[in-house]
Parts: sequence; structure tokens; C-alpha cells
Amino acid sequence: MTAEPGTRVLKADADTIKTAAACLAAGGLVAFPTETVYGLGADAGNGEAVARLYAAKGRPAFNPLIAHVADLAAARRVARFDAAAERLAQAFWPGPLTLVLPKQPDCGVSALALAGLDSVAVRVPAHPVAQALLAAFGRPVVAPSANRSGHVSPTDAAHVLADLRGRIDLIVDGGPCAVGVESTIVSCLGEPTLLRPGGVPREAIEQVLGRPLALAPEGAAGAEAPIAPGMLTSHYAPKARLRLNASAPRDGEALLAFGPAPEFSGLTLNLSPRGNLIEAAANLFSHLRALDASGAKAIAVMKVPRSGLGEAINDRLRRAAAPRPE
Ligand code: TXA
Ligand code: MG
Repeated sequence: MTAEPGTRVLKADADTIKTAAACLAAGGLVAFPTETVYGLGADAGNGEAVARLYAAKGRPAFNPLIAHVADLAAARRVARFDAAAERLAQAFWPGPLTLVLPKQPDCGVSALALAGLDSVAVRVPAHPVAQALLAAFGRPVVAPSANRSGHVSPTDAAHVLADLRGRIDLIVDGGPCAVGVESTIVSCLGEPTLLRPGGVPREAIEQVLGRPLALAPEGAAGAEAPIAPGMLTSHYAPKARLRLNASAPRDGEALLAFGPAPEFSGLTLNLSPRGNLIEAAANLFSHLRALDASGAKAIAVMKVPRSGLGEAINDRLRRAAAPRPE
């Protein structure tokens, strides 16, 4: 297999793991095998790397990403486990199960990767190459399936190369994936709920829990396509009203700026003073949260261009601005 300039493909061995971990630490994008499908990994704590990851997948939607960690101890630093989550983790990790849990305050996963949510999806993959990479990197790695948006998930390195050549830094070739479908996603935010069927059968999960899993509303997770504003129950919803495409803030508003900001005496945060969409994506959810936390009743949001990551930024802003029941 030969790669285009820009995307290296390396057979998985000890040297490659070191190279891959260093690449992640430098903000790079690294595709790696898990037992389910190949993931496209980025340093979970690096918002700009996460923004580039969404961009590399194309037509980015800013779906929340799964944080991959080496073991349960590392998972506990990311999320809080209740009794049910604890039992599921003990039974199925490492393995093709993802748990959606309340996030820890300093979970090490950027607000962009969480799509601004207070919950986090976390998984301990079983594949020895994924295990070695996560251990070498030492911090959470966010990884959606390593395919272009709208394409099927890749189960070998050639699929990844076909979809993402020239768009990512490195592909760690560990051969074909054994499971071939994505992980099962169970939310333990309340009653354990099946969000996406996957590599661990529902029956096996229900046996461990000793009761049936609740069923998620259609499209709650696992859907690549964005859902109409207000439909995705888990999407980020600020308390403040958002006024989009504002050219100038009004009295009583806070300002979310992009590019050169107008003179304004009220609270202002700038997504990217230099007008860079990658930087803006990385700041989007954290800035919205900070302005919301200030207690402002309304937030004026300056116009953000629609090219590149701008499409996803505008999509998320539209959802955050959508009217919702009190
Ligand atoms: O097997 C897998 O899970 C693969 C490998 C690479 O680990 N990863 C994968 O990631 O399938 P992705 O991004 O293609 O799918 C993750 C799903 C998305 O549908 C997302 O909406 C959902 O997980 N998700 C992530 N965080 C969530 C959260 N806090 N609440 C609800 N759903 C969440
Ligand atoms: Mg996917």
C-alpha cells in the first residue's frame, strides 16, 4: 500500500506506537485499529486537534466523540461511574462497549469533543494496538470511526487510506478489525439505555444488569446525520437566548465575536480574533458556556462564514438558538 504525501502508513510495531503517540501529542491525527472499526484519533484535550479531526471527516457535524482510554482507572478520571456502569465496565472492558456517563469536572476532554455536553462517552478498547497506543499516550484519545462523513466505517487500513489520504497524518496498520461493527453505546445517565446497538449484544448487557435496557428515542446516538434542531435530546442548550448574525450587540447582551469585534462595553468573548475557523470551532462550546454562565439573558453572535468548519459551527449555533419549551 502506498500513501499520498502527507499521510504515512506504518505497520503496527513498537516504533510505530512511539511515533503515533508523539504525533497525537503534537496535535496530529492518527488512525488506529480497534477491535470494532478503525478510529481516527486526536488528543482529546486539544480543541484545535479535535476541530481538525471534524474537518478531516468532511461535512463535519460536531457529534460528540468517544473518549478512548487504556483502562478503568483512566476512565474514572474522565467520568463518574454509578453501580450499573461499574458492573458493565467490569464485565465488558476492555471490549466493544461505550458508556455515556456524567463527566468529571477536569475530564481532560475538550468542550468541542463533548459537543458542549455535561456527559461523556468513554470506552476501553480491547485491540492490542489500541491498548499500546493509549498506554503510550497516557491521556484520553477521542476517535470517531476513521471514515469520511456519510461513508461506512473502515475495518482495515486500506479503507482508511481510501477515505482519508492526504487529510490525516498517520495510519497505524494493524490488519483487519475482528468485530467489524461499532461499539454498543449504553447511557448510564439515568436508567441504563441502549443508544446504539453494536459489538456487545444487548442480551449480554441485560444479563449483567439483571434487567432490560431502556430504549433510546430514534436517532439519539449512532446517527451521523444531524437531527433537526431540538430533536437531539442531548444537544447543547444554553439558558441565554442567542441572536445570530448580529452586526452589533445591544444593551444587556453578551457578545460572542468572530474576527475583529465592534467596540462594546459588555462581556465579550471572541471565537477567533484572527477569523480562523479551526480556532473558532475549538472555542465554540467553551465560550458559549462561559457567556451563559455570566447570567446574560441574551448573547449576540456575530456572523461566522459557512465554508469549511463554518458549516458545523453555524449548525451548532442554529441548534443552540432554536426555541425550546420552558
Ligand atoms: O466502535 C466504536 O465505537 C468506534 C471506535 C473507533 O471506537 N467509534 C465510533 O465513534 O463509532 P463515532 O464517533 O463514529 O460514534 C460515536 C457515537 C456518535 O453517534 C455520538 O453521537 C455518540 O457516540 N455519543 C458520543 N458522546 C455521546 C454523549 N455524551 N451522549 C450521547 N451520545 C454520544
Ligand atoms: Mg461513525
